[in-house]
Amino acid sequence: MTAVLVVDDVPAMGEQYAYDLKRVGKFQTIVAGGGDEALDVLAREPIDCVVLDLEMPGTDGFEVLRRLQQRGIDTPVIVYTGTGSYDRCVQAVRLGAYGFVDKTEPIERVVQEIENALSRGRLVRELRTLRSRVDGEASLVGESAPMRALRDAIARVAPISSSVLIVGESGTGKELVARALHRRGPGEKAPLVAVNSAALPEQLVESELFGHERGAFTGADRLRRGAFENAAGGTLFLDEIGELPLPAQAKLLRVLEDRKVMRLGGDRPIQITARVVAATNRDLEREIAAGRFRQDLFYRLNVHTVRVPPLRERLADLPSLIGHLLQAIAVQLGVRPKTIEPDAIALLTAYDWRKNNVRELRNCLERMLIASDGPSIGSGDVPPEIRGDAGRAPRSTPGDEPDDDASAPAGTLKALKAQAEREILLAALETHDWHVTRTAEALGLADHSSLLKIMRRHGLSKGAH
Ligand SMILES: Nc1ncnc2c1ncn2[C@@H]1O[C@H](COP(=O)(O)OP(=O)(O)OP(=O)(O)O)[C@@H](O)[C@H]1O
Ligand SMILES: [Mg+2]
Repeated sequence: MTAVLVVDDVPAMGEQYAYDLKRVGKFQTIVAGGGDEALDVLAREPIDCVVLDLEMPGTDGFEVLRRLQQRGIDTPVIVYTGTGSYDRCVQAVRLGAYGFVDKTEPIERVVQEIENALSRGRLVRELRTLRSRVDGEASLVGESAPMRALRDAIARVAPISSSVLIVGESGTGKELVARALHRRGPGEKAPLVAVNSAALPEQLVESELFGHERGAFTGADRLRRGAFENAAGGTLFLDEIGELPLPAQAKLLRVLEDRKVMRLGGDRPIQITARVVAATNRDLEREIAAGRFRQDLFYRLNVHTVRVPPLRERLADLPSLIGHLLQAIAVQLGVRPKTIEPDAIALLTAYDWRKNNVRELRNCLERMLIASDGPSIGSGDVPPEIRGDAGRAPRSTPGDEPDDDASAPAGTLKALKAQAEREILLAALETHDWHVTRTAEALGLADHSSLLKIMRRHGLSKGAH
């Protein structure tokens, strides 16, 4: 129930408000006979909302608002006044009151104001947690040796304004590294402008990067600043630089050499003050050898190179990454966060994260979070394609009478046989796209129901069709 504090120096008035509010059925009320008493109550009791009289002898409503502000107490306050003076109400709002009502207005108006104030309070709190979480998400999680080395590299090159090339497989966190470089860089308060080179149509490269004057070409009906200019004093992040077409590479090179850009159709060179950070998941040296990337541009960009290690080289980070990502996903989707059981983490650790690294892990966790029924994510929720890869054990020959005791103590022949049987099943199911009849045939089983029986023993019936 919502606790409302009613403050009025006229006892009959305060009691009446408290009584009316209580009758609405949603509020629990406390009455204070003056400003000082109100401040005492607020320091002591968990109050959700205050209904405050402005005109009181001694510590009046304005003074209460001032003190609340000083003490950083953000309990919402609705003020009420009998004078009908609009100016005084505005003054109260400036002092932090959420809203005001006139004493002559019906109680419904007060209720409405209280409810609005409460829901705004909730939004403010939500926004605050979201902000802190989003900021948290932008940080690089992981304490493994490769991650520590990465953080060291970032700290070393961040304060220098020369170009940095970030290399690493897809989904390893290159963009996060670029943001970290910016945050710790010389232009931390200045903008970070990100340009996805892969999404730049060739005809637009120049106007996107360098801008254009009004009338520079048909359709250029107004002046447009380019990314270099917009990033002035900060960071220009050229993502997926390996995808930039060769003609655009030539233009970019010229600009980097001159440290000047000229808007299309313009005649005034503009000094470049942004630091350039580029990223790619391509092997640029190979691209150079194949004639797809200019060597001179490469040397301009990689004054410093930061390599982001693939996930499989830092599996020690998995538990903390999983925890961090689950939390971030829950916040993003607005669902209740879940914990994850150790055997599910073990399966995820055994997987070869080769395709999309942390992004693939993130997507997999999102699917698991949504698909799982209970309050925590278990090994049964790990998608088959992830589980199927986990720790391929030595194969025993099919045709060997499979042992059926999957719950035998670990290390015993029984348990090892059960484990091997599970691996064989998984591999066969994978091969046949989880098609039960075909898998049964391939394994030489009588029919699909014998396969289903074995699968159930291993808790594998979920993904089959
Ligand atoms: N060390 C990390 N800690 C926390 N989150 C991470 C980490 N590495 C990557 N992520 C998350 O993984 C996702 C992919 O990261 P990011 O977009 O930076 O990858 P990328 O290397 O730029 O990939 P691509 O080459 O596909 O552009 C993002 O959601 C990012 O927040
Ligand atoms: Mg990226």
